[in-house]
Amino acid sequence: MILLDGNLTASAIKKEIAEKVQRLIAEGKSVPHLAAVLVGENGASLTYVNAKVKACEEVGFRSTLIHKPENISGEELLEIIEQLNSDPSIDGYIVQQPLPLHISEQQILLAIDPAKDVDGFHPENVGRVALGLPGHIPATPYGIIRLLDHYGVETEGKNAIVLGRSHIVGLPMAILLQRNEYPGNCTVTIAHSRTKDIANLCRSSDIIVAAIGKPGFVTADMVKEGAVVIDVGITRLPDASKKSGFRLKGDVDFDAVAPKTSFITPVPGGVGPMTIVSLLSNTLIASAKR
Ligand code: GUN
Repeated sequence: MILLDGNLTASAIKKEIAEKVQRLIAEGKSVPHLAAVLVGENGASLTYVNAKVKACEEVGFRSTLIHKPENISGEELLEIIEQLNSDPSIDGYIVQQPLPLHISEQQILLAIDPAKDVDGFHPENVGRVALGLPGHIPATPYGIIRLLDHYGVETEGKNAIVLGRSHIVGLPMAILLQRNEYPGNCTVTIAHSRTKDIANLCRSSDIIVAAIGKPGFVTADMVKEGAVVIDVGITRLPDASKKSGFRLKGDVDFDAVAPKTSFITPVPGGVGPMTIVSLLSNTLIASAKR
């Protein structure tokens, strides 16, 4: 079993990005600038957005955090989006999800300039990626693809199953795995809440990507010998022994599953760091195009 180490891989990519930023500075060019919009006080969202801002600092990007109260109106948020779209100093930005229920996520998403949509959630980017055209790839699936690439994991002709059909992870992951290039050329199944007999489908899969947010869902009996297992889950479970009061648990029962696999991602330290570094890469690309 080989651990797909997201911390190590992301560090190597971050070093390359930091070197590119230094070259930009030496050439007198402006450094990439990422903005993040955060609404409300959701603990997990605060942690993720802070991690994204910190990663910008590490590689020498500019970053701007726009933190608004839970009761901001949809119109006010749309105004912020318009400002970010027209601000020439901003190369890319994200609007952290979930948004409060009184705001239409879809309306906000459609208002984002696709060129600045470094999350890759706008329909134009989704369509571009689906058709193999240049466009921002959502950071989590992009990070997973790069992790598979970094470790030279074979994907051609493999049966892959993606657990979860979210627009952020499951759907784009399935699209990327079936592409006619490496890492891809998989035969992909998307499993979701209405899928019958997920356990059997997993057992016949060479690659399992679990992105359903159910801690420990993938158990050892669902995994065949030598499978590749990618765990996107990061549920917070109460844990009084931790300073934060919680520990992170993936969608995979790691201790029991790991010995059966050829490659597996840990939680934490697997997909998470790859997501953040891929957001930086998208911002670098957006900046270079402008
Ligand atoms: N919520 C959970 N993951 C993400 C992400 O990658 N981007 C944004 N904007 N919100 C999220």
